[in-house]
Amino acid sequence: MTPAVSINNLTKVYKGRKGLKVEALKGISLDIMPGEVFGFLGPNGAGKSTTIKVLLGLIRATAGEAAIGGTPVSNPAARRSIGYLPENPALYDSLTGEEYLKFVGQTFGMTETELPGEVNRVLSLLDLKDARKRPVRSYSKGMVQRLGLAQTMVHNPDVYILDEPMSGLDPIGRAQVKEIIRGLKRAGKTVFFSTHITGDVEAVCDRLGVIVSGKIEALDTVENILRSGVEGYEVRLEGVPDMHEEGIVNIMSEAGRSAWYVPAAKFNTFMQRVGEQAVQVADIETKRRDIESFFLDIVGKGP
Ligand SMILES: Nc1ncnc2c1ncn2[C@@H]1O[C@H](COP(=O)(O)OP(=O)(O)OP(=O)(O)O)[C@@H](O)[C@H]1O
Ligand SMILES: [Mg+2]
Repeated sequence: MTPAVSINNLTKVYKGRKGLKVEALKGISLDIMPGEVFGFLGPNGAGKSTTIKVLLGLIRATAGEAAIGGTPVSNPAARRSIGYLPENPALYDSLTGEEYLKFVGQTFGMTETELPGEVNRVLSLLDLKDARKRPVRSYSKGMVQRLGLAQTMVHNPDVYILDEPMSGLDPIGRAQVKEIIRGLKRAGKTVFFSTHITGDVEAVCDRLGVIVSGKIEALDTVENILRSGVEGYEVRLEGVPDMHEEGIVNIMSEAGRSAWYVPAAKFNTFMQRVGEQAVQVADIETKRRDIESFFLDIVGKGP
């Protein structure tokens, strides 16, 4: 199958004033398959927006290739299959939301007959119907962000490239954007979005890539990352067994009950001892490293 987004050994060197060079991308490679929601996680300055701008054909890579659905990004046709949310969208704020979406549809060559239906569709999808006749300057931050997302969808593209879609939103706004991304996934679309917030990726992504200083440092499914992060278990027992195993910690024992921290590697031994002493298990809670500590470890600021 042709990847929806493919990035092959991409390098970007910015040439600043006084001949100063910034190596923003140091040879990154990445394939995103159709229907996949991919989270591009990285700290400030990691190279997320640079990668995205290359994909949109807004800047040229120094070396390497990138393609959308097999079409090289240097070909303007690649842009037509992308819905793009820039990092700081400049929406024409004297237009109403509806006028703005019509304008965007026109730039994609949509006809006067198809435009009203599609504009209505995205206005309802993003809960902007009531505000459609108001100028964008009167919109709240969350509404502007929803309008930004709406304009990615007017021409109903297959691939969505969103640069920090949840930035600056309150928890309700973030939840709405996550739900929109899930909706795109249900519709079989491909979503590539950047963020520096780990909670965003855990909730919506199939796979995630971590970029640090222009290099991809990790690339895996969220499921695998969470599974590899299982560190141990907290076990509550109806009873207080004799337990003298290194690494197993008695958290509490009182009134004939006990709680234990059991490292993953000691779990079988622990359960065997418990079984031998005919003690009942009341509850087992998995203790795992979350995406946040995984991310912080990679970025190098981990505890
Ligand atoms: N036009 C430019 N000229 C020179 N350097 C640039 C330019 N744009 C970006 N850079 C540099 O390239 C590196 C990557 O920047 P980029 O904007 O891609 O990071 P980012 O991961 O999107 O960060 P953020 O989370 O802050 O948005 C940074 O060191 C940045 O200073
Ligand atoms: Mg950025």
